[in-house]
Formats: sequence, structure tokens, C-alpha cells
Amino acid sequence: MTANDHERRLMPGDATRRYLAALRERGPLDVRWDRAPTRHKRYPEAARVTLPWRTAEPSPEPSPEILAGALLRELLGFDRLVWLHQLDEECAAAGGAPMLVLGRPAPSGGALYPIEAYVALAGGLYHYDPVHHVLELVRGGDHRPVLGLPQAGGVLVLTAVFWRSMFKYGDFGYRLMCQETGVLLAQAQAAGARLEIGVRAHLGLRDADLECVLGLDGRREAVMAALSLTFPCRDDGPGEPVHGDRARPSSPPPLPLIGGPAALLHRSTATTGEPGPLPEPPLAPGHRHPLGDPAPVPVTRPSRTSPPAGYRPVALPLADLAAVLAAAGPPHPGDLPEATLTTYLLAQRVDGLPPAAYRHHPATRTLTRVGPPDAPPGPLHANTRAALRTAAAVLIAVGDPLAAVEQVGDRWYRLQQIAAGAAAHRAALAAFALGRAARIHSDGANDATDHVLGLAGTPFRSLSFLLLGTPLTRGPSLVRDLTSQGGDHSPARAPATNPCFSGLTPTS
Ligand SMILES: Cc1cc2nc3c(=O)[nH]c(=O)nc-3n(C[C@H](O)[C@H](O)[C@H](O)COP(=O)(O)O)c2cc1C
Repeated sequence: MTANDHERRLMPGDATRRYLAALRERGPLDVRWDRAPTRHKRYPEAARVTLPWRTAEPSPEPSPEILAGALLRELLGFDRLVWLHQLDEECAAAGGAPMLVLGRPAPSGGALYPIEAYVALAGGLYHYDPVHHVLELVRGGDHRPVLGLPQAGGVLVLTAVFWRSMFKYGDFGYRLMCQETGVLLAQAQAAGARLEIGVRAHLGLRDADLECVLGLDGRREAVMAALSLTFPCRDDGPGEPVHGDRARPSSPPPLPLIGGPAALLHRSTATTGEPGPLPEPPLAPGHRHPLGDPAPVPVTRPSRTSPPAGYRPVALPLADLAAVLAAAGPPHPGDLPEATLTTYLLAQRVDGLPPAAYRHHPATRTLTRVGPPDAPPGPLHANTRAALRTAAAVLIAVGDPLAAVEQVGDRWYRLQQIAAGAAAHRAALAAFALGRAARIHSDGANDATDHVLGLAGTPFRSLSFLLLGTPLTRGPSLVRDLTSQGGDHSPARAPATNPCFSGLTPTS
């Protein structure tokens, strides 16, 4: 029997079960930095649209290209320069000269940034090059109808360059890339609101069709999600039909996703359908702790503070926690059903809330206690342990990884992880708008956390782990903002110190 015959015999959910088992059994990371691929893709010979670095500059009638470029910069562009001091795993000074690194608006596991973006507008299909902040013309003509969204002003396609994350994280990188896709959907929705661009996620399109238009083989780089964009400026209507050859990407190409549980899971994600009604985690009756009516959080700028290893050990007002929980909740991207995720919480320092593990009930704006205080959330990386000591609370997205495999096949894994990434990032953006800080620590989503949350023996699992607290006001690193507001030195905005950039700390 060939490998293909074997795959054809798999039942929906089998690839997900194998992937989950492989993640549970994985050992410590063995990173070959000499196999690290380049972090940027380019189309060196392509015609380019140069975008303005400062979007605050007056523009009487911004074109779709300029608006799409502004949105792309808020997703993947370089927005700050950090003089970073090296720390060891316990976050003590490691000595040596500071490094100069470029920060990006949205977080990425291990700062590897495996997600690329393409945008189809009336005049052509472009790739976004964040290094030069330009749109590279991959192919002329109007590709929006071919991408399946003819009415959209623009179609933004997010793809994953697998090897960029997997050279370090192996199969676990697939989970990170799914969550990062969700992070970028949430970032696009927040940035779109500021730029007056309507953004809607489409998670049910046929990936192979989109990859064919983009000229991707689906093994080195594959489509993860598409977003339709509605611009506030004049719509030129349909452009010229697709024409011309595709531009050639830079070489060497990244390594393909060849074998193993992540490759099998990705190949099994072709089926799409509508998930039906989904079950919610079981709940023992208990006292419901009221949260009050959360005030909506105005996210005026999709920005964040993300300390890797520590917060000011001060209490979070209950109203702030309620607002962040509300921001994390549904609607989920791509019209996934409400029960895709349930939010749980480890409260450590919240005014008026006894330390304990809780489950959030968005409909009644209440919390139910589900576990003891001072929960030990399992084996953790040194920086997560350090950050937990001072964090005010941890938000944990919970879901059943197999709940909808009968309806949507193994694609359910991707959809649910996208929802988890988006929920975590919406919470992080709301936290920043309230003057707080938040960071995803993937290592906290583990069996021990499930046990603390009372999920052991149920099909539900912790999917993401977002620490929340009050940012430190001082740190050894210096940050210079590169965005349109530009020029300010803001040590509190960026990581005070970040061992994850060092390449020494096995984060995630
Ligand atoms: C899906 C995902 C998982 C992450 N997991 C971890 C983690 O386990 N530990 C950690 O310290 N940071 C984690 N991060 C944060 C990244 O390391 C961080 O975004 C990156 O180093 C860039 O730094 P910045 O967020 O301050 O810009 C994660 C981020 C994402 C998007």
C-alpha cells in the first residue's frame, strides 16, 4: 500500500489525533540555526508600488494601493527599532553588547514571522515586501474574481512559509502558524477600523485555487486565510482581466513540508463545510461571580506591550479584566460558531476576585470558579515561570479539537487555532488600550493547565495562554517608534528585555 493509499483510508479526525499525540510526545527543541531560512520573501524583478512611510501625511484621495499598503504595514511592517540587552533564561543580565532588532506590530512565535501577505486589487496581484515597504507586482490584471471574491475592493491572502517556523519548532510550528494567522486577522480588523477599511475573514475558500493564482506549490508556502477589504475611497469597478506572466520569487526557495504529523494534518485540511452546533465544556453548578457591564474598549491604535518575563506586581481592576474578557469573546473570525472557544481564567491579582481558576460566561457576564488558587500550570519555560510570578491574570482559550471534524474534516484544527490566536490578540489589544500588557506563552497550554481547569477526562483542551498584567515602566532596552506618529522614545511600550530574540531561549 502506498503512502497515498494509506492517507486515503484516514477517517476525518485521524490526522488531528496523530498530530495532537505527536505534540504531546515531543521532546526538547534541537534547533539547527545553520538551517534557518531567510525571513523575507521578495520578487526582485517585479514592478513595485512605493508606499509612503508616513500614512499621517495628508493625501486628498488615497488610492486602494496606498490604503492596502497602510493596512499591510500595521500587520507585518517594521514599526519599532529596539536596542535590546541580552538576558539569560531567568532574565538576569547576560552581558555583552546590545543587539539592534526591528519590531513588528503583531506578535509571532519566536519572532520568526512565517506569514506572508498578498493583495489583489483592480490593477494587479501584489506581494507585500515589509523591508522596503513596497507592493511587488506578482501579476497584472484583476484577480479578485479568480480568488472567489469579485465584489471585494481588495482581497488580502495570508500564507504560511512553513520552514521559517518549523526549522526551529518542528511540527509544533504548524500550530503556531495557525494561531499567528488568527493574530493577524484580529490585527487586520483593528487596523482596518482605524483606517476605515472594512475587513472580513473568509476561512472556507479552496486553498488550492488560491495557491494556483498566487503561484504557490502549497508545500513550501500555503494559503491559510483570505480577507475581503472594502475601501472608503472610490471603487474603480472591475479591472482588466488577468494578464501577463507571474514574477519570479527570490531564491533559494524554503524547504517544503515533506513528511510527519504536521504535513499529514495540513494535507488533510482540504475539506470545508459549515460546522454545526458545537458542545460547550461541562460545568458543575457553583457560585457565579458577577463582572458587571464592561465598558467597550476603544482600540484607537492596534498596538501592544508584550513583556517576556515580568510585570509590575500590582492588582488589575475587575472592570479592566471584564473589558479584556469581553474583547476576547465572539464573534470569531470567519463566522465560526460562538462555542468554538470558551474562555477560562487564572486570576492571581485582580481587585475583588479571589485568586482561583474561573470559567467566563459572556452571556451573563459572570465567572464560575472551577479550580483552586495558586494553580501549578505544569512544566514551563523559565521566562513563562518568571512572568507568571508577577502577572495579574492568565486568559486561556479552551475548545474541543475534534468537535467539528465530522462536518469540516481536519480543517477544524486550523479553524479553531485561528480563532484561539484571534481571541488572544483581541484581548492583548484591549489590554494595551487600557494601559496594560499581555503576551502569549504557548507552553502554558498543557495537560497540567487542563487539569487545573477541571478539563481532565473531557474532550476539551487549553489552546492558548495569554498572560496579562501591568507593564514595567523601566528596563535596559531603548525603543524608537518608527510609525507615522514617530519619534518618541517609549521604553514602556516595547519589551523591556526579550530573551526570545536571542535565539537561545526555547520559547513557545
Ligand atoms: C502564537 C504565538 C505563540 C507565542 N508563544 C510564546 C511563548 O511560548 N513564550 C514567549 O515568551 N513568547 C511567545 N510568543 C511571543 C513571541 O515570542 C513574540 O511575539 C516575539 O518574540 C516578538 O516580540 P514582540 O511580541 O514583543 O514584538 C508567542 C507569540 C505568538 C503569536
